[in-house]
Amino acid sequence: MRLRRDRVIEIKTPEQFDRMREAGLVVAHTLRVLAEAVRPGISTADLDAIAAREIGAAGAVPSFLGYFGYPATICASVNEEIVHGIPSENRRLHPGDVISIDCGAILGGWHGDAALSVGVGEIDPADRELLDACEAALWQGIAQAVPGHRLGDISHAVQESVRAAGDYGLIREYTGHGIGTTMHMEPPVPNYGPPGRGPLLRSGMALAIEPMITRGGRHTVELADGWTVVTADGSRAAHFEHTVALTPEGPWVLTAEDGGKSYLPERAVLAVSARGDAPPEPPVSPLQRSPKHHATGRATALHGREIAASPRGAPYAGDLDGPDAR
Ligand code: MF3
Ligand code: CO
Repeated sequence: MRLRRDRVIEIKTPEQFDRMREAGLVVAHTLRVLAEAVRPGISTADLDAIAAREIGAAGAVPSFLGYFGYPATICASVNEEIVHGIPSENRRLHPGDVISIDCGAILGGWHGDAALSVGVGEIDPADRELLDACEAALWQGIAQAVPGHRLGDISHAVQESVRAAGDYGLIREYTGHGIGTTMHMEPPVPNYGPPGRGPLLRSGMALAIEPMITRGGRHTVELADGWTVVTADGSRAAHFEHTVALTPEGPWVLTAEDGGKSYLPERAVLAVSARGDAPPEPPVSPLQRSPKHHATGRATALHGREIAASPRGAPYAGDLDGPDAR
């Protein structure tokens, strides 16, 4: 049985959030430069080099490079690739492609992690809607990142936003996560589930919220490179992510240059429960779970690409029924 202490969520002081903000701004800046660099003909390796340059120039360190052996600074996932696409000189962008770029950096020991999806040149209006639906779902989730709410309120808001936007596949095998002194911390942040369940949200928590949706089904396959996750049906996917600090004044989007002000709906609720405003405690060492389960065995093919024999499971599958559940 898992004990309560295995599920501790790191709590930051306001001063620590100020430092985490600096890391978040490095990520925000880098993603803006990357989004502006996206154009037909550029390779995903070119984008990776730009990211390495920008992160380094800011005095920060990329968090993905070397993470469980990951070989690059960013993840660049094109079209039917959902997440964890490895940048390559051979992957040049074409007009009409959609690309999701995921970027993480460490500054002064604090992590920022964010992702966005953009079109290459002119794109299919249905792809535009896909990207918009995913970004809107992210912001609906962020609006629920409020002390006094439950983690499930975020998950549910993402799910309902996606459902209302259209007939999209909502990825379940990969989730958001707590973040702070490491990239992946407790708790997992699923993009689906019932409201009012899961850990109580408190001031001082930081969460990376990251919906992934598709124009088709929700099923995923990991390619034989051990990283790239694609849609099982070949449909196109989108991924947006922000690192969000939970404060008594509401969500502070550390990886948005304006802190989230321009996107958060006016109705974004502020602190509603005194329970959620306990004084911050110093960070604790989280018990880190491996997000990486290397697939083994015989590979097979999907849409002409080699896949891992056993797609990895749900490393952050939502455990919404712990002792903290209502
Ligand atoms: N940024 C991803 C996430 O949101 C993790 C990237 S996996 C890595 O959790 F290996 F590239 F780091
Ligand atoms: Co993340």
